[in-house]
Amino acid sequence: MSSKLPKWDTLGFDYIKTDKRYLSVWKDGSWDDGVLTEDNSLHISEASTALHYGQQCFEGLKAYRGKDGKVRLFRPDMNAQRMQLSCDRLLMPEIPVEKFIDACKQVVAANERWVPPYGSGATLYVRPFVIGIGHNIGVKPAPEYIFSVFCVPVGPYFKGGLSPVNFTVTDMDRAAPHGTGQAKVGGNYAASMLPHKDAVDRGFADCIYLDPATHMNIEEVGAANFFGITAANEFITPKSPSILASITKRSLMEIAENSLGMKVIERDVPVTSLEDFTEAGACGTAAVITPIGGVEYKGDLHVFYSESETGPVTRKLYDTLCGIQFGDIEGPEGWIEIVE
Ligand code: PLP
Ligand code: COI
Repeated sequence: MSSKLPKWDTLGFDYIKTDKRYLSVWKDGSWDDGVLTEDNSLHISEASTALHYGQQCFEGLKAYRGKDGKVRLFRPDMNAQRMQLSCDRLLMPEIPVEKFIDACKQVVAANERWVPPYGSGATLYVRPFVIGIGHNIGVKPAPEYIFSVFCVPVGPYFKGGLSPVNFTVTDMDRAAPHGTGQAKVGGNYAASMLPHKDAVDRGFADCIYLDPATHMNIEEVGAANFFGITAANEFITPKSPSILASITKRSLMEIAENSLGMKVIERDVPVTSLEDFTEAGACGTAAVITPIGGVEYKGDLHVFYSESETGPVTRKLYDTLCGIQFGDIEGPEGWIEIVE
């Protein structure tokens, strides 16, 4: 318990060892009760399927400290459900929703001193994951599994927070048309490291992926979903089976429709139709809402609202979403879980 707390306002998105993490093992057909431990290393078989065949998945959610000092989790049931989808896709045992939420709450409560103060701009990022472990050399599901949850205080994922950044369209794919794009599995992220590096080396925040079947439509913005705003007050976002269904995006769709009176449309977003949008953004747990300044495609940079200023609709979406997450605005029923 000796590690010093960081300076909250200069935090980036980097690993810091916090006090406790949760660990549960699946063996002989069931999960054990799970424990909190101070040990941040795993001792697993060299033949674990997670290491060789990518049989693993993860989630990401955040704990937010409110003005009232209370700590809130945002829609952890949605992360629990998505983790079940990921486990099903890779033939791993599901984590019951209650076990998932309880593990997250235990970890946040045990690391309460690491939850950044209200107004610091920082939050506590919670990282649940499931990995296939045990001795196994053939390409088949593991004999045993670990479900673990740890947490890290974080600042903005894309430098600048609510300042616009530019993205470039890559011709590489993060997922296949009928592959694992809608599951949160490590293989998709391994495939994204090279296009990400290429984009960053060329001065962009990250790359935009097109749909892997036709390479005509916008699919994802790095590790975040895409949305565009039209002059007709529409919130438009891509629809595709290989996109990771973002909980932030689903929430923004509700906010756009019910709080901002916008028309919400999920449809193909051709990369050649960027001029349809007056504003655009990337959204996700880590990215929150990152305004997209411009998108480079085939050598041209298309600028939406501005390369340096956030558009008014994007700002309203951001203020409402963060207001709900930090407890300043009452959100729809069931969106907030208080950690006692
Ligand atoms: N798309 C990808 C590829 C991601 O990794 C993430 C992050 O979780 C998202 C979208 C955003 O999803 P969420 O809002 O549930 O965090
Ligand atoms: C998240 O937003 O939770 C993500 O998973 C992004 C990430 C891979 C750091």
